[in-house]
Amino acid sequence: TVLVVDFGAQYAQLIARRVRECHVYSEIVPSTMPVSEMLERKPKAIILSGGPSSVYAEGAPPVPDGLFETGVPTFGICYGFQAMARALGGEVAKTGAAEFGGTSLEVLQEGLLFAGLPVAQTVWMSHGDSVVGAPAGFTVTAATSATPVAAMEDPSRGLYGVQFHPEVLHSEHGQQVLKHFLEAAGCRPSWTMLNIVEDAVEAVRAQVGEGRAVCGLSGGVDSAVAAAIVQRAIGDRLTCVFVDHGLLRKGEAEQVERDFVEATGVKLRVVDASERFLKALSGVTDPEEKRKIIGREFIRVFEDEARAIIADGPVDFLVQGTLYPDVVESGGGTGTANIKSHHNVGGLPDDLKFQLVEPLRTLFKDEVRRAGEELGLPPAMVWRQPFPGPGLGIRIIGEVTRERLDLLREADAIAREELTRAGLDRDIWQCPVVLLADVRSVGVQGDGRTYGHPVVLRPVTSEDAMTADWSRVPYDVLARISTRITNEVREVNRVVLDVTSKPPGTIEWE
Ligand code: XMP
Repeated sequence: TVLVVDFGAQYAQLIARRVRECHVYSEIVPSTMPVSEMLERKPKAIILSGGPSSVYAEGAPPVPDGLFETGVPTFGICYGFQAMARALGGEVAKTGAAEFGGTSLEVLQEGLLFAGLPVAQTVWMSHGDSVVGAPAGFTVTAATSATPVAAMEDPSRGLYGVQFHPEVLHSEHGQQVLKHFLEAAGCRPSWTMLNIVEDAVEAVRAQVGEGRAVCGLSGGVDSAVAAAIVQRAIGDRLTCVFVDHGLLRKGEAEQVERDFVEATGVKLRVVDASERFLKALSGVTDPEEKRKIIGREFIRVFEDEARAIIADGPVDFLVQGTLYPDVVESGGGTGTANIKSHHNVGGLPDDLKFQLVEPLRTLFKDEVRRAGEELGLPPAMVWRQPFPGPGLGIRIIGEVTRERLDLLREADAIAREELTRAGLDRDIWQCPVVLLADVRSVGVQGDGRTYGHPVVLRPVTSEDAMTADWSRVPYDVLARISTRITNEVREVNRVVLDVTSKPPGTIEWE
């Protein structure tokens, strides 16, 4: 394990991911964790992340006591680098020479970190203070025009540091620098997908023993991969429940019912609840009310199914697709923090008490996708872009009816098909297609007047859905989507593009 000590940087998760890309397992821990607790995790190496503050600022997070005396190889990045320099007797100063963004770095001496790398390279900087004097015992290995000590190392003590951010892609050779540190620390590249899946399966076996488990499938990648892992571990003692609320996109129910079952051999109960959801949504136009109704009905249907399964024998475990970022964000990593419950099974009644099985708790989304590939899941599920739990129900502006759902499903399928054909799936975070069901506009088709509905295309780029920008989809792709939708979907006579970033617009319209 490599521990990434989080000094409050938005970069800690990125560092952990980059370490894992070197096939070395890493975990994020808060900088307030005592060193003794860190050592219990038997770290092979420690990385100190960047942070928002100046090392001199009031309340600047201190380096955990005794960290540099543990003998564990340690790599300081940005704030972590400055904190290391300061703690060991170096000099950090506000030189007035702040650097932000791409900066030219000159390697003075290859040392271990820069072995075999070019003397001149671009790195990503973001700092106000600078290390102006390295502590005794360190060799200064790189500098920039504004920063005399941009990298330093003392291999005899296993201590390394860089001012720049090796974890961001704008640092040309950052991944190499990180890899060199991990090699110097003696970390073996054993964190491979095969091992990850095998370890997860083993852990589930140990947790569930001879017990039985249930799992709700949503059609998305997280619940699918979680279920596939648990199925490998306990076979038919897992029962999956797929509540088809009728609000999924074209082909998605079949992906779960047919392709996923074929690929995994999972025991599946399908509930076609579309009639029930439509009835509950009838006459409802308020977005929040729609969300509440869909959530409530979902729980009720799931509850009924869970009770039916329990009638065949006790069930102690509920499988959830909680991911590592959720664990970290809810203050955890220690296993004791309260974890966000997945929206679609939170809120079960008290008499249905389950222990949670969360086989994806240590994984990032991209790792979950690769695990899905390793497990042989259908590619359409593995690579599915984010899709909200309430589904198309919140993409019909106005009342949700079966006719409107069918219409939107067709329009959405065309948009997805054309974006895929244009090779844009990896560039676009997601592309909601929204039906303005209560709006009509006049058009002309053939010789006749039409009076149909508009659909909105909402393609966005994003890192994490917290912020987003509208994606600049090429005009010819937009043109093809527009032509096809207006030709092939009766009732839609206009296609418009949403050019709002988030904020102020959210990604979904409701
Ligand atoms: P907004 O519209 O808030 O969406 O910008 C941010 C991201 O979250 C997705 N989303 C949801 N996902 N249940 C989910 O699982 C929901 O109720 C829900 N609402 C929005 C949305 O698609 C986008 O990726």
